[in-house]
Amino acid sequence: APVDTFDYLVFGGTGDLALRKLLPALYLRDKAGQITGDSRVMAVSRSQLSPAEYKAKAEEALRQHLHADEFDEETWGRFGARLDYVAADATTTHGWGELQEHLKGRDEIVRVFYLATSPELFGPISERLRAFGLVTEKSRVVLEKPIGRDLASAKRINDEVGSVFAEEQIYRIDHYLGKETVQNLLALRFANSLFEPVWDAGHVDHVQITVAETVGVEGRGGYYDNSGALRDMVQNHLMQLLCLVGMEPPVSLDQEAVRDEKIKVLRSLKPIGVENIAASTVRGQYRAGAVNGAAVGAYAEEAGAGNGKPSNTETFVALKVEIENWRWSGVPFYLRTGKRMPAKVSEIVIQFRQVPHSIFPRGAGEITPNLLIVRLQPDESIRLNLMAKDPGPGGMRLREASLNLSFAETFKSRFPDAYERLLMDVVRGNPTLFMRRDEVEAAWRWTESILDAWEARGDSVKPYIAGTWGPSQSVALIERDGRTWHDDAMTTG
Ligand code: BG6
Repeated sequence: APVDTFDYLVFGGTGDLALRKLLPALYLRDKAGQITGDSRVMAVSRSQLSPAEYKAKAEEALRQHLHADEFDEETWGRFGARLDYVAADATTTHGWGELQEHLKGRDEIVRVFYLATSPELFGPISERLRAFGLVTEKSRVVLEKPIGRDLASAKRINDEVGSVFAEEQIYRIDHYLGKETVQNLLALRFANSLFEPVWDAGHVDHVQITVAETVGVEGRGGYYDNSGALRDMVQNHLMQLLCLVGMEPPVSLDQEAVRDEKIKVLRSLKPIGVENIAASTVRGQYRAGAVNGAAVGAYAEEAGAGNGKPSNTETFVALKVEIENWRWSGVPFYLRTGKRMPAKVSEIVIQFRQVPHSIFPRGAGEITPNLLIVRLQPDESIRLNLMAKDPGPGGMRLREASLNLSFAETFKSRFPDAYERLLMDVVRGNPTLFMRRDEVEAAWRWTESILDAWEARGDSVKPYIAGTWGPSQSVALIERDGRTWHDDAMTTG
C-alpha cells in the first residue's frame, strides 16, 4: 500500500551508504508504487554539487547497485524528478537557508531526516535543524549506526539528539532487523507451537550465530580502523540477533512490547571483563590470502587501514556469551563475525541436546544432535537436521537428513532489501524494528567492558589467513567446551 507523502532528507547524501543502499531502496519502493505523487528525496552534504550533478551521480549509483532488471527508464524518470540536492555544512550555517527554502510550505507532510553521516555530526545537525525551524510535528530522525564508539559517546549523542527530538521521533536503525529472515525468526518462534516448548536450557545444548563476510574493509579503512569488528558488527547486528533468539515471548508486536523483551536479554548478559576475557573472546585480523580463488591482501595493506602504522584493529571476533536467566542458564551462545571469510553467510544454529539414551546398536552409526539452522543470507532458509534410517535392507543404519524450507523456492516472490522495509517503516511511523535509547546503551555497556578488558590486558589481534574461518584460537574457544563450529553446513548448505 502507498505510504503518506513525504520529504526524505538524506544527510551524508554523497556517501557510500546513501548511494549504495538508501537511494536504491527508495527507488525500488517507487518502482513498487509505494511512493505517492509529491514525495521528494533530498540529498544533503557538504560537496558543492548542482542538483543536476547529483542526479547524474545517483543514476550512476543506481545502475551500478541495482540488478539489471530492476533499473528501468520509467521509474528512473519518476524517481529522478523527486531528487534534489542541497549543499549544507553541519558545522556552519552555510546552506541551511537554502534548505529552509526547499521545505517551505511542506510542514504538513511527513518529514524524515536520515543522518547517514559520522555520528559526531548527529548532534550538530539536529541543533541546526532546530535553529532553522525545520523540525515539524511530523518530523522523524533516523540515526545510522554506529551511535558513538562507546557508552559515554553514545549517551552524549542520544542527549544531543534527544534535546531536539522526542524519543518517539528518533529511529535508530539496525538494518539487520529489516532482513526478511530476521523477521522470520519472530514468525518461526511465535507463530508455531512446535519450537517454543523446546526453546530453553532443558532442550538446547548451545546456539551459534555466525555473520561471515568475504569482503575486506572496502575503502572504509579510516572508519573501520577506529572501530573494529566488535563495534562495527557485534554491538549492533549480532546483539540484535542474540536478543531475537533469546528473548521471552513479547505480549504483542507492539514497539514497546518487543523492545522491552530485547532489553531484558541485554541486561541478563554475563559481563565479560578481565577475569574471563581470555576464555570468552578471540580477536583476529586477516593476513594476505585468497577468497573464492582470488588473491587478496592483508588488512594492514588496505587503503587507509592503520594509516601506515601496524594496526591492532580486529577484523574478526568470536565470543562465548551467556544469558544469565531462567530460560538460558548454562546454554552458551557462540558468536563470531569476520571480514575475508570463505563465504558470505549469516546463520543461526540452534543445537539441541543429545538423546538421553541410544537404543541402537553400535553399527547403526552415530546419533548426531538435531540442529535448527536459520540462514539469514544468502539463500534464506530454515533447515532442521534430523536423524533418519538409511534406506535399504541392510539393517538399522542411521543417517542425518534435513527438512529444508527454502524461502525462494517456497515463496516465489521478490525479497526486498532490509532498507526498503525500514525506510518505509519510518514514514509509516512504526518503530518496532528500530532500537530504543536504553537498548543501544545497554548493548554498549556490555560491549565496552570487553573493549576495556582487551585494552587492560594489552591484548593483540591473532592473525588469520584471508579466506579461512578466523584464527585457530576461535576453534579452540568452542572446542574447549567439546563443541565445534558448523562450518561445513555453511559452505555446502
Ligand atoms: C554494516 C557494517 O553495518 O554491515 C559493515 O558497517 C558490514 O562493515 C555490513 O559489511 C554487513 O551488512 P550485510 O547486510 O551485507 O550483511
